[in-house]
Amino acid sequence: MGATDPDRPPRAKRLVVLVSGNGSNLQAIIDAAADGRLSAEVVAVVSNRPDVFALQRADAAGVPAVHVGVHPDEERSDYDARLADVVAGFDPDFIVLAGWMRLLTLSFLGWFPERVINLHPALPGDLPGTRAVERAWDEAVAGTRTSTGVMVHLVPDEGVDNGPVLGTATIDIDTSSTFETFAALVHATEHRLLVDTLSALCTDTPDRTEVSA
Ligand code: GRF
Repeated sequence: MGATDPDRPPRAKRLVVLVSGNGSNLQAIIDAAADGRLSAEVVAVVSNRPDVFALQRADAAGVPAVHVGVHPDEERSDYDARLADVVAGFDPDFIVLAGWMRLLTLSFLGWFPERVINLHPALPGDLPGTRAVERAWDEAVAGTRTSTGVMVHLVPDEGVDNGPVLGTATIDIDTSSTFETFAALVHATEHRLLVDTLSALCTDTPDRTEVSA
């Protein structure tokens, strides 16, 4: 009876989640893993910022919460090598960037090919970078767009919010509503898409995932 025993249930995938702030997407992952919607275990949460709420969420869930701060004058590649060391120590199957607000270089990415997954609140090729939700809303108010979306993708290299797409959801923008209502819809859609996409990946059925807002 070896590791390939077909009767043995597959080992839950090990996720390390990288965060920089609130951690509502981290919470969605933790909750889905706890109630069985996601066949995975969050084995660590790593933040580049101290004292963020995401680290408290990890603590509350009994998950190791690690702060890897940037040293003054440190080269980006040196930070990324240290980060890779910490993350590799948790032996992850996948590394999930869930509100991770720092560009990663190949000093990190090179250690985890096809294993780093990013969540971005816009559709592929649209609105890369920060404040994508605000920019989509502003354009809708200005009359130059009617919809946006969210996506989950692999991170192969240093491109910003770009890489093989694993899942998408399109969201219509109702400008008769408020920005807060729109932003809440975007985040709720992110939570569902991220869990559904990870669930497909963790059960080895990684067909592209689509959810509706
Ligand atoms: C999300 O909108 C994510 O797509 C973006 O930052 C936000 C993080 O939210 N990169 P949270 O920390 O998961 O609540």
